[in-house]
Amino acid sequence: TATASKLNIGQKLSEGKTKQIFELVDQPGLVLVQSKDQITAGNAARKDQMEGKAAIANKTTCCVFKLLQESGIKTAFVQQHSETAFTAAHCEMIPIEWVCRRVATGSFLKRNPGVKEGYRFTPLKMEMFFKDDANNDPQWSEEQVLAAKFSLAGLTIGQCEVDIMNRSTVAIFEILEKAWATQNCTLVDMKIEFGVNVKTREIVLSDVIDNDSWRLWPAGDRSQQKDKQVYRDLKEVTPEAMQMVKRNFEWVSERVQLLLEPQASGRVVVLMGSTSDMAHCEKIKKACTSYGLPCILRVTSAHKGPDETLRIKAEYEGDGVPTIFVAVAGRSNGLGPVMSGNTAYPVINCPPLTPDWGAQDVWSSLRLPSGLGCSTILSPDAAAQFAAQIIGLSNHLVWCKLRASMLNTWVSLKLADQKLQACSL
Ligand SMILES: Nc1ncnc2c1ncn2[C@@H]1O[C@H](COP(=O)(O)OP(=O)(O)O)[C@@H](O)[C@H]1O
Ligand SMILES: *[C@@H]1O[C@H](CO)[C@@H](O)[C@H](O)[C@H]1NC(C)=O
Ligand SMILES: *[C@@H]1O[C@H](CO)[C@@H](O)[C@H](O)[C@H]1NC(C)=O
Ligand SMILES: *[C@@H]1O[C@H](CO)[C@@H](O)[C@H](O)[C@H]1NC(C)=O
Ligand SMILES: *[C@@H]1O[C@H](CO)[C@@H](O)[C@H](O)[C@H]1NC(C)=O
Ligand SMILES: [Mg+2]
Repeated sequence: TATASKLNIGQKLSEGKTKQIFELVDQPGLVLVQSKDQITAGNAARKDQMEGKAAIANKTTCCVFKLLQESGIKTAFVQQHSETAFTAAHCEMIPIEWVCRRVATGSFLKRNPGVKEGYRFTPLKMEMFFKDDANNDPQWSEEQVLAAKFSLAGLTIGQCEVDIMNRSTVAIFEILEKAWATQNCTLVDMKIEFGVNVKTREIVLSDVIDNDSWRLWPAGDRSQQKDKQVYRDLKEVTPEAMQMVKRNFEWVSERVQLLLEPQASGRVVVLMGSTSDMAHCEKIKKACTSYGLPCILRVTSAHKGPDETLRIKAEYEGDGVPTIFVAVAGRSNGLGPVMSGNTAYPVINCPPLTPDWGAQDVWSSLRLPSGLGCSTILSPDAAAQFAAQIIGLSNHLVWCKLRASMLNTWVSLKLADQKLQACSL
């Protein structure tokens, strides 16, 4: 906040029901997003000042965007500025609300009579609503969005852009769902908005994600819901009722910070037969680091120093930290199979194959005595990815990075194809 307080705030660019957007004079391309201290429901038909609400919304947004950003999702969020404001990339907003549902409830039940509350959507149910207060934000089909031919920051919103937003919404939902599950909380549904970054012309998650943006049911129990629905359901706005809504908000704000904390530890230990395999091992380590996984490199040969191999193994079995061993041994890989026969932890063979003997050498990793369950992965990046997938089963932060990476790969392919098609026209 030292730098934050020096922000040279320029003119107001826009104002909505819950926040104001200001230009930043010295930072072209960035804006200040300032929350207003009020809660709205039913299109602002009902407005009540709620002290501290802005601060709570700020904290929620900051934690959620930090989680998404660290996972690798592209967002407008830059950094928190004050208790009630953050800086963000200046975007031209796409006037569509993307709604993603895991469990049927609320307006979905009204629009789809006959569906029982609690019905689970797999895959997730996606809906789009055109942001139009005067008409109560009508639901739009994909065809309607395409027909509107929105053009923002020089980017026309066509099929490719709609597909990217659709896929991104699913990934964002799954990441937040996974994170809330660590708090025994079901993410029931969520609504988000995208913008086009005026500088990069990329589609990024924009606006905010706060209590107004989702339904959360602790332990999947609707009666304990901790979201804005409590406010919508109030028969009468009494000071006591507002206190209850505020306490619910506080419940969320206390927990939202925990979403950023790893719920389980984990590490990768790379064993190499010789330091001549160092470059191969460094690649594994670099890829592990990209998933936030600690990676330790050790040198040991199961052929020449089996006592040392087993001693090193015991070091990592002794402290209770879930560990994945990666064995890097050229020529005849004794290391991985010996480890696999002597530990209950997972072992991945990642032999550094050479062009001359590789086709023969690989069999020492593949053809094993019975009772061994080690896997073999040739690419160092892929070995690290597989280790991350194992750790990701119990560590949501690692899982979220894998999930975002999958989305980003999908988007890159889509954009590469679009570019190629445009060139060949
Ligand atoms: N990063 C951003 N850059 C530019 N405009 C933004 C950004 N984030 C949000 N906005 C816009 O700020 C305005 C105020 O937000 P909000 O109070 O939520 O409005 P609304 O009532 O339309 O939902 C909206 O038009 C929103 O789209
Ligand atoms: C606003 O969010 C930031 C980031 O989480 C946090 O440091 C700050 O304390 C928050 N303000 C309040 C009042 O919660
Ligand atoms: C999102 O994508 C899914 C799967 O391709 C599709 O069935 C659905 O109609 C799309 N939804 C929207 C709102 O575009
Ligand atoms: C979630 O529920 C499980 C099983 O009931 C319990 O062991 C765990 O402590 C709970 N976690 C949190 C964060 O409440
Ligand atoms: C959302 O959660 C925050 C906690 O981050 C809470 O303070 C706030 O009251 C909740 N509701 C709204 C509408 O912001
Ligand atoms: Mg809004």
